Amino acid sequence: MDRYGVFGNPIGHSKSPQIHRLFAEQTGQTLSYEPLLAPLDDFPGYARTFFEQGLGANVTVPFKEQAFRLADQLSERAQRAGAVNTLKKLEDGRLLGDNTDGIGLVRDLRDNAGVTLQGKRILLLGAGGAVRGVLEPLLAQRPVALVISNRTLAKAEQLAGEFTELGPVSASAFEQLRGPFDVIINGTSASLGGELPPLSDDLIEPGVTLCYDMMYGAKPTPFCQWAAGRGAATRDGLGMLVEQAAAAFELWRGVRPDSGPVLTQLRSQLSA
Ligand SMILES: NC(=O)c1ccc[n+]([C@@H]2O[C@H](COP(=O)([O-])OP(=O)(O)OC[C@H]3O[C@@H](n4cnc5c(N)ncnc54)[C@H](OP(=O)(O)O)[C@@H]3O)[C@@H](O)[C@H]2O)c1
Repeated sequence: MDRYGVFGNPIGHSKSPQIHRLFAEQTGQTLSYEPLLAPLDDFPGYARTFFEQGLGANVTVPFKEQAFRLADQLSERAQRAGAVNTLKKLEDGRLLGDNTDGIGLVRDLRDNAGVTLQGKRILLLGAGGAVRGVLEPLLAQRPVALVISNRTLAKAEQLAGEFTELGPVSASAFEQLRGPFDVIINGTSASLGGELPPLSDDLIEPGVTLCYDMMYGAKPTPFCQWAAGRGAATRDGLGMLVEQAAAAFELWRGVRPDSGPVLTQLRSQLSA
């Protein structure tokens, strides 16, 4: 059977095996997809052993940068992101590294939530791996401004400098931000600890601003709660997760799955 999986540590919580099982059923593809608990001290060795038989794998925390170094060939978007979340074994045995996180976010915003990003003012919170991965696909949608704001300002400035040739991107400290924005995307991990970056209420225009948290959970995240309390529409990152998986599945199998029913099923399980 064609073998796929997801490398991570820990990996028990991953929803990817279920998502890819549903995609395979839906598209009539015969394959296996398993959680792969890679050791922290030898990701390359573990991954190479898997790829003696395996055809493809997703990569999650904390191995995305190591997967970037492991790949023999990189897509342009993986090169820009400096991280790989999808590996594919090519016919000659070499490994192609791709990054589908950014296109996953854009497809969830654009296709699932019906948001047009062209001409919009976007605020991106955070300057870690997730934000780096979404910058190029977001700028490709031609927003009128994209502001990166981060607790450590120097990291936001560094990122803005690296992507400046791709569009109108700049950096700002949280306190210096001037709103309102059309779309605010939380790419910090603050929600993980139940925290929220220090955001002023006037970043939101009630009834206009959409606030998107890359994190998701059974209950609204602290960021989504803050936003909803100020009249913004909100959306969490479950759709981004399903869409990045759909893009990986298409890269491996050449078939595009229908992400809608899978997102609906995951959402109802999460809220149950
Ligand atoms: N839905 C999906 O498919 C998907 C995909 C990828 C990632 N994500 C989510 O995206 C989030 C970020 O992931 P990552 O890989 O980019 O993490 P990361 O590389 O560790 O970066 C974390 C970022 O969060 C900031 N931060 C952490 N705690 C904070 C706090 N209390 N207040 C303000 N800022 C804080 C950090 O600021 P400093 O630079 O100042 O430390 C940094 O910019 C995570 O919640 C992850 O689950 C979701």
